[in-house]
Amino acid sequence: MFDVVVIGGGPGGYVSAIRAAQLGAKVLLVEKDELGGTCLNRGCIPTKTILSDVRLYVHVKHSTIVKADRLRVDMGQLLERKNKVIKALNTGVQFLIKDNGITFISGKASFVDRKTIEVEGQKGREQFEGEKIIIATGSVSAQIPSVPVDGKVVLTSTEILNLSSVPKDLLIIGGGTIGVEFACLFNGLGSKVTVVEMLPTIIATEDEEVIRSLSTLLKKRGIQTLTDTKVKEAKVKKGRAEVTVTGKDGKENVLQAERALVAVGRSPYTEGLQLEKINLSMNGKFIKVNEKMETSVPGIYAIGDVVGRQMLAHKASAEGIAAAENALGHPAKVDYSRIPNCIYTFPEVASVGLTQKQAKEKGLQVRVGRFPLQSNGKALATGDSDGFVKVIAEKDLGQVVGIHILGDHATDLIGGPVLALGLEATIEEMGKTIQPHPTLNEALSEAALDAIKEAIHLPKKK
Ligand code: NAI
Repeated sequence: MFDVVVIGGGPGGYVSAIRAAQLGAKVLLVEKDELGGTCLNRGCIPTKTILSDVRLYVHVKHSTIVKADRLRVDMGQLLERKNKVIKALNTGVQFLIKDNGITFISGKASFVDRKTIEVEGQKGREQFEGEKIIIATGSVSAQIPSVPVDGKVVLTSTEILNLSSVPKDLLIIGGGTIGVEFACLFNGLGSKVTVVEMLPTIIATEDEEVIRSLSTLLKKRGIQTLTDTKVKEAKVKKGRAEVTVTGKDGKENVLQAERALVAVGRSPYTEGLQLEKINLSMNGKFIKVNEKMETSVPGIYAIGDVVGRQMLAHKASAEGIAAAENALGHPAKVDYSRIPNCIYTFPEVASVGLTQKQAKEKGLQVRVGRFPLQSNGKALATGDSDGFVKVIAEKDLGQVVGIHILGDHATDLIGGPVLALGLEATIEEMGKTIQPHPTLNEALSEAALDAIKEAIHLPKKK
């Protein structure tokens, strides 16, 4: 009998298993594919590896200083480096599992009863018992039934990561996180990219000013975004994707491209788990949990994409840690209001806390400060000065409630603001923090100071 059994070895599951082991539990971790889950093998890590190579290519291509004749991307090398990075991290996770004394089984788990699972692996079927069981089975790409994915012409984010050639034109269905990241990636590689989004804007959950500015920058780079446009169906004709869309005016239009990417969200993955055997309550397709990550069945927890909310690796890890702690008698919960969001576009988007619209909807009176990267020395020095920092604070006490960054390295810069929100910093505290010079961090303090009309490097505010 194990103290804790974790099903799923992604950033939710393996982190949860390690935390349980740290707390002294005898832990079993079961994974049907590779350790690291979607994030490490098919998501965050491979996309960021490729994006970093594409960014280098774009920089050199547009440089007026570094001159290179016949510049080209070696797609073979690009995929090889991506695979090497995955391998290195995968080996790292394997080491951590072993180092923490966790028993690892490769195979597909299903429930037998509330304390027993069966694992179908290379050795056949085996049963294991766990005092506590944590479900961390993740998600798969959501599908539109009338847009069948064939993996060759119509792709999901999994297949597109292994394309060995750059498509001349690419149609992306969905202007959310995955859609805009791949739009930048393939635009950088030279594809003609069109993004079709059914909502009035791309990346609809971000702050309105960030959305507006990023939309303008994408357009400047040659990425076409068709908003208020819904994809009705797709077919493959003569090796090309033919996608029928309906515009705001209700008119249908047929768009063609060498490849189409379906990026319309992700669905929780519970296939084959036999949840019906334990009579688990669901919340639609997601597993229902309370704030301690407990499901409706005592002793069974669920975390990560399979429980919904933001489908983010770091949110899954935080839930994994909380579940392990609760399972072993250490009360814990996740503060969802301080989970950062990162989008790896060119330039990047990062945010934490409320958007200005959300603050208004909550009835908060706010002060807003902004600082353009064009007024930041480091941004000008590196040549990446598109974007800005926006800070939103509650008006009377000055508590910072939201920080939004559009700009190069935004996803790294957001760490400080996450801590500021966590420590309930005020706009004065954030503004008076001495940031190193010259760095992009200075834009954070200056944006905060702008909210109290004290920014140094901005025209005087009346
Ligand atoms: P998403 O939910 O971010 O965006 C999907 C978009 O598709 C939405 O804007 C939706 O309105 C649109 N859409 C849906 N049906 C459509 C149709 N028929 N026609 C046109 N547009 C349609 O989902 P996405 O981008 O697929 O990402 C999946 C998950 O993975 C998200 O939860 C995301 O947060 C996560 N992720 C996070 C990353 C990061 O943190 N950097 C990177 C990639 C994914």
